[in-house]
Amino acid sequence: MPGGGIVLFGSIFTRLLVTYLLITVIVVSVLAFVASIIYKDAIFQAKRSALEAAAVSTAELTEAHLEGRTSAEALSSAVDALGVSTGAMIYSLRLDPEDFKNGSALTAAGIGDDYVVGSMEAILGGETVYLEKEYSDAFDMHVLFAGHPLRLDGQTIGAVLIFCPVSNIDRALSNLNLMLWLAAVAVILLSSPLIYLNARHISRPIREMEAMARRIAPIGDLKFASITQKDEIAMLSAAFYEMRQRLDEVEKMRRELIADVSHELRTPLTSISGFVQAILDGLIGPDEQEQYMKLIREESDRLIRLTSDLLELARIQSGNIRLDIEEIDLAAIAGAVAATEKITAHQKDITLAAMIPHGMTVMADGERLKQILLNLVGNALKYAPDCGNVTIKAKMDGAYAVIMVEDNGEGIPPEDLPYIFEKFYRSDKVCKPEDGSAGLGLSIAKHLVELQGGTIKAESTQGTGTVVSFTLPLAEPKA
Ligand SMILES: Nc1ncnc2c1ncn2[C@@H]1O[C@H](COP(=O)(O)OP(=O)(O)OP(=O)(O)O)[C@@H](O)[C@H]1O
Ligand SMILES: [Mg+2]
Repeated sequence: MPGGGIVLFGSIFTRLLVTYLLITVIVVSVLAFVASIIYKDAIFQAKRSALEAAAVSTAELTEAHLEGRTSAEALSSAVDALGVSTGAMIYSLRLDPEDFKNGSALTAAGIGDDYVVGSMEAILGGETVYLEKEYSDAFDMHVLFAGHPLRLDGQTIGAVLIFCPVSNIDRALSNLNLMLWLAAVAVILLSSPLIYLNARHISRPIREMEAMARRIAPIGDLKFASITQKDEIAMLSAAFYEMRQRLDEVEKMRRELIADVSHELRTPLTSISGFVQAILDGLIGPDEQEQYMKLIREESDRLIRLTSDLLELARIQSGNIRLDIEEIDLAAIAGAVAATEKITAHQKDITLAAMIPHGMTVMADGERLKQILLNLVGNALKYAPDCGNVTIKAKMDGAYAVIMVEDNGEGIPPEDLPYIFEKFYRSDKVCKPEDGSAGLGLSIAKHLVELQGGTIKAESTQGTGTVVSFTLPLAEPKA
């Protein structure tokens, strides 16, 4: 997993997201379910009251008519109105109670269902009966049924029977359920972005801390042995562990650097101090003094070069240099380097040549490229024998240019070859103390090449020579 990436499954982010979503879905579903049950009960309760009231009203209206207080038309229209308002069929029957009880009268009226016949005794006994969702053969549907006795002069003379189809209520109920579930889905959908943001809000600082730790310890995959989980906190602690190791390494490097630098400074400073002391003590005659002054000057120059190289290396390593990458003509740069080093080459009778194919261009910082080449050519001139050859060459390799600096010097011993790009590393077999070498040149060159997107390597055969080659991205060929 690349640094700072999200571990999707098993991450805290996913777990928070899934848990919040599940809780929301469960809570909303339970609420919707309870609401639908409560509403259904309320609807049936209201219907029961309405049907019982309609039965009582119809009985009272019929009684008023039988007592001659209202006309038949008034009764009929009042009962019709009740039927329409309740959505029910209303029967007001005046018959012999015995016929009622055995059901023959009801069968004759087309409403002889068992539950009706079964309820008659109670109704005629003076009770109001209510039955819910009975299947009626007569109407071929489920109905709500209400019955109420019909009385005249204190005598039960018949019954009011009301049948209300359940399908009306069911339709209303399923509409309501649909609305409830749609609302539930809407709540879940609307809360999802909030849940997502919240989960991210909680897990983000952890991931940021991990990324921060990784920046300090830029390692590939986390190798922390005890990672069993792959969530952000495990990754964070692993990143901190790696960071700690990296900091230990940095601390070790810092100590080594201080030791190396003090060692490097010590030798020239000891010489300078020794020469000056000798002059002060009068051990050196006036005729020799100039020669010693020259030595002191050389040692001071070496110190100046060493400190400026160290500063340069520190700047490059801390990434504190600005690269000005542009299209660079390799032949021109190599020619300029060869011209700069011409005098040094001439002093050793070395043939220095730049043989770069015409028109080869790379994407690089011109000054830095020159600095790399000066370092490599400087080494080649330093380590090639008198009357030797030093050549700067180049070839193409895919999207890269390979630039080579060849010499026919003594070569680098195989045991030293892996270390020559490390700072302060010098091969004892090749270097002479009077070279004034610090062993920083190749280290600087390597950092500069890598900053410009290339790689550097050295091949050497002892006794035959050395080739130090580096790559740089080729410039896009112009259309
Ligand atoms: N062309 C070469 N032939 C033989 N040995 C080489 C060559 N180039 C580099 N080396 C070896 O690699 C070592 C490291 O090279 P590098 O340029 O880093 O340091 P230096 O030349 O010794 O010192 P500086 O470049 O700091 O003056 C050298 O000391 C030398 O031993
Ligand atoms: Mg060098």
